Amino acid sequence: MKRIAVLASGRGSNFQAVIDAIASGKIPAACVVLITDNPGAYAIERAGKAGIPVKIIDFASFPTREAYEQALLAAMEEARADLYVLAGYMRILGSEVVRAFPGKMVNIHPALLPSFTGLHAQRQAVLHGVKVAGCTVHFVDDSLDGGPIILQKCVPVMDDDGEDDLADRILEQEHIAFPEAIRLFCENRLEIVGRKVRVRK
Ligand code: GRF
Repeated sequence: MKRIAVLASGRGSNFQAVIDAIASGKIPAACVVLITDNPGAYAIERAGKAGIPVKIIDFASFPTREAYEQALLAAMEEARADLYVLAGYMRILGSEVVRAFPGKMVNIHPALLPSFTGLHAQRQAVLHGVKVAGCTVHFVDDSLDGGPIILQKCVPVMDDDGEDDLADRILEQEHIAFPEAIRLFCENRLEIVGRKVRVRK
């Protein structure tokens, strides 16, 4: 049974999808901790309901970014997780943290990478006028949203879509894609080969 640690900063609907997939036996893992940088995150309540311990590393309470990163690194090491799951973690992780867990950290991004990296990916997609959008689950490396891709799901973009319409349509797919990718990891079926991720049958 794998140990999963989740990092989330906000409402935590992807975190909830992971909790539910573990509870229903779809992901063979235990979620050992929620780590958050935001004491007001709704994800904290979701953890409470699921009996998952919470570690708050409040960015605002540290004198420097380095001090915050050291506390975060310590909390992550303490979790002794097989996989670190970034579920709407809204800070860019320092390279020391990223390098500490090579091949052991995944993120979900609400765009078909490598298009629309960074913040407000759904808004970027609407403004660009793309006809297809979606989400990407990928391993985390030093680049911004650039690590090896595990899986992607796509959705159509409608002519009248605003940012929120598209975000809602993508979010439904995120809640399918993220548990699926985490399940594959927990079943030891993912192999990183250069830029690619092979999925074993
Ligand atoms: C999601 O759109 C995810 O793709 C992005 O941040 C958002 C988090 O939403 N990284 P939630 O907190 O999981 O509801």
